[in-house]
Amino acid sequence: MAKRVLVLNGPNLNMLGQRQPEIYGRKTLAEIDAATEAAAAGLGMEAICRQSNCEGKLVTWIQEARGYFDAIVINAAAYTHTSVALLDALTLFEGPVVEVHLSNIHKREPFRHRSYISGAALGMIAGFGPVGYRLALLALDEQWRAHEDTP
Ligand code: DQA
Repeated sequence: MAKRVLVLNGPNLNMLGQRQPEIYGRKTLAEIDAATEAAAAGLGMEAICRQSNCEGKLVTWIQEARGYFDAIVINAAAYTHTSVALLDALTLFEGPVVEVHLSNIHKREPFRHRSYISGAALGMIAGFGPVGYRLALLALDEQWRAHEDTP
């Protein structure tokens, strides 16, 4: 059965295309989601993309992902740097979590250098723009293949 991946985007990412294009590029979230869904299909996965500006909604989606989704790819946006609630919810999720950022958060203001989400993530992809979501799916694919290979 195709692996199911929940792709979550946090606050202000619904404004991509208009939001600081010099940092985040000109693609809209709808365009990025479509490319991510196509990349998932190409890897034999199913990606479901959701965005919310509300921390609690993201927490609820992560809780509900348990037992249904095989992995979570998350760009928690500004909540990355503040949210113990998201860290706790992701810790509860039994599958792999991949953290994505469009920009290289380590090259930016010091307050963006700390990620609470990383504590629950298999790894982080940052700085490659929208292609980061596809790289996250590739990382999951490699991970699952490596485990299948193990006797
Ligand atoms: C971001 C980086 C965060 O620091 C910022 O608050 C965002 C987007 C990124 O994708 O580069 O909203 O997560």
